[in-house]
Amino acid sequence: MSMEDKICMITGANSGIGKATVIGLAKLNATVIMVCRNKERGELARNEIITQTGNKNIDLFLCDLSSLEQIRKLVAEFKEKYQNLHILINNAGVMLKKRILSVDGFEMNFAVHVLAPFLLTNLLLDVLRKSAPSRIINVASAAHKRAKMDFDDLQSENKKYRLFTVYGISKLAEMLFTYELSRKIDGTGVTANAVHPGVVNTNLGRDQSKFSQWFARKFFKSPEEGAQTSKYLASSPEVEGITGKYFVNKQPKQSSEESYSLEYAEKLWKFCKEMTKLNIYQD
Ligand SMILES: NC(=O)c1ccc[n+]([C@@H]2O[C@H](COP(=O)([O-])OP(=O)(O)OC[C@H]3O[C@@H](n4cnc5c(N)ncnc54)[C@H](OP(=O)(O)O)[C@@H]3O)[C@@H](O)[C@H]2O)c1
Repeated sequence: MSMEDKICMITGANSGIGKATVIGLAKLNATVIMVCRNKERGELARNEIITQTGNKNIDLFLCDLSSLEQIRKLVAEFKEKYQNLHILINNAGVMLKKRILSVDGFEMNFAVHVLAPFLLTNLLLDVLRKSAPSRIINVASAAHKRAKMDFDDLQSENKKYRLFTVYGISKLAEMLFTYELSRKIDGTGVTANAVHPGVVNTNLGRDQSKFSQWFARKFFKSPEEGAQTSKYLASSPEVEGITGKYFVNKQPKQSSEESYSLEYAEKLWKFCKEMTKLNIYQD
């Protein structure tokens, strides 16, 4: 299978699952736009990927996705250079020990896993529609399953900050966003699906104890294995037209009951729209 005429954008592309996904798509001859927040780390990964795959069509755009202003700038720069986008993979992620705020004042898990995919995707929808058939893939997590939305405290100000609770809620919100997006764009030729990559040994656990990091190295999936479902959703003809699903190990799976709540999805969409000052919808 070749993706020679396909243009793909992957966020968080210099490390872990994102980098392995770039390698996978580069090997299929796609043009890949890596979105990274750090110039050195981005360039290092880009050079390594070009050397490893022999694909020179690997571009690098810099953007700290926790900044709404930088996301708008990224989209403007992208649209100046490219006319099409066939695959968007919202992959960037964090797992922070302490409650940190983004430059816009949002809790960081929420900023990177919810507001960033929301704004980036919506601002790129015109190009994705024009390039249809095209695909949006949101790298969520099975961690959403234990989470409960708390619309009175979306920024985790009132609860004690617990890493897995706050991370899980942001991933549940990412699932709600994916499903609502798939309904909104139904019939446009653009699909939207979510992924759980498995438990993967990446830099996500860099804040964890030395023992946890050793355990991850020994027992977790490799980034290459973790990238398989993202790569499958980006490239396989088997999933052409499939939308609004949650994939694990390349198979559609049931996500948590709460993730299918229409009420929550609409509420979250409205909140994100207001917070990001998105004005391209009338709803
Ligand atoms: N690893 C797992 O077991 C697992 C399980 C379920 C879901 N996931 C999800 O998989 C995705 C990829 O994570 P990973 O495990 O591959 O972790 P990773 O190795 O830490 O990669 C995360 C990537 O996101 C980037 N990133 C973080 N914050 C950013 C920001 N503000 N702006 C731009 N880029 C930013 C990181 O950039 P820097 O290198 O500059 O920090 C890095 O490139 C995440 O969404 C994660 O939640 C992972």
